[in-house]
Amino acid sequence: MADQNIIPQAVAPAGAAAKRGRAKPFSFHDYAVAIGIALGLTLFFGVYDVYRRGYLFNAPPTADPFFVPNKIIIATGLSMLAFTFLISPLARYFNVFHQMVRYRKEIGIIGGYFALVHAVGSYLWLPLKYPRSDMDFTGVIYSAGLAATIVAVFLLLITSQKAVDLLRNRWWFLHRWGLRFLILFAGIHVYVMKWSHAWVAWWIARWRQPAVRRTREWLATRARNAHGSVPHLGRRHPPLRNGFHF
Ligand code: HEM
Repeated sequence: MADQNIIPQAVAPAGAAAKRGRAKPFSFHDYAVAIGIALGLTLFFGVYDVYRRGYLFNAPPTADPFFVPNKIIIATGLSMLAFTFLISPLARYFNVFHQMVRYRKEIGIIGGYFALVHAVGSYLWLPLKYPRSDMDFTGVIYSAGLAATIVAVFLLLITSQKAVDLLRNRWWFLHRWGLRFLILFAGIHVYVMKWSHAWVAWWIARWRQPAVRRTREWLATRARNAHGSVPHLGRRHPPLRNGFHF
């Protein structure tokens, strides 16, 4: 039989309070835990980056003193944002993450501030490696970084009780989708910057072709694949692979 003396605890996903129009109240303990996690991650990435590069602030003349600290800051920030995003799905499958759900808000907020330090620091303090004159905010890399920064500022601004009161049901929607977009923009920013040069260049070059030519190609491809010939050229062609010329 159930014990009558046990007071049932409300079990609900993080954000459930906000869904009902109530922000999670400030908790010093929960912020202390989130800051502890941030320090642990900073130490972890710090050891890794210093081992890999061989310096922290005392950079060689070709690098900026903020170059390695910046890497450590954004690795910590992005890990915390990713953790905020993944913590609920993980808690559904692994009990060990259940305890962490209550810290989700604070982990996200601290992670957001780390990301902002990276955004400001990258703009101001990497003149040797990334001169400001080379930062093209109309290009994919920096516009995605800027978009992620704007979303991060917006999410940090609407963490207050006032914002929850004002936005009511929309608060939860904005927070959920805001975090998703922040991670998407950050992913594009890093991926295009670090790994994707060849195929992104190919894709952009293709996209910039005049629309008329693209339409003609598309129509010709359809005709070839349907009939094995291009009617206006009057000769037979093999079907194109994926519809593209290689
Ligand atoms: C919330 C916003 C942002 C996020 C989450 C983000 C994320 C990242 C990440 C994960 C890296 C890879 C770091 C590494 O290689 O170790 C990176 C690199 C970089 N980001 Fe951002 N970024 C953001 C905003 C910005 C903005 C606004 C700028 C431009 C002012 C910027 C400039 C850079 C630069 C220059 C690097 C290369 C740093 C290096 O190679 O060490 N980022 N960013």
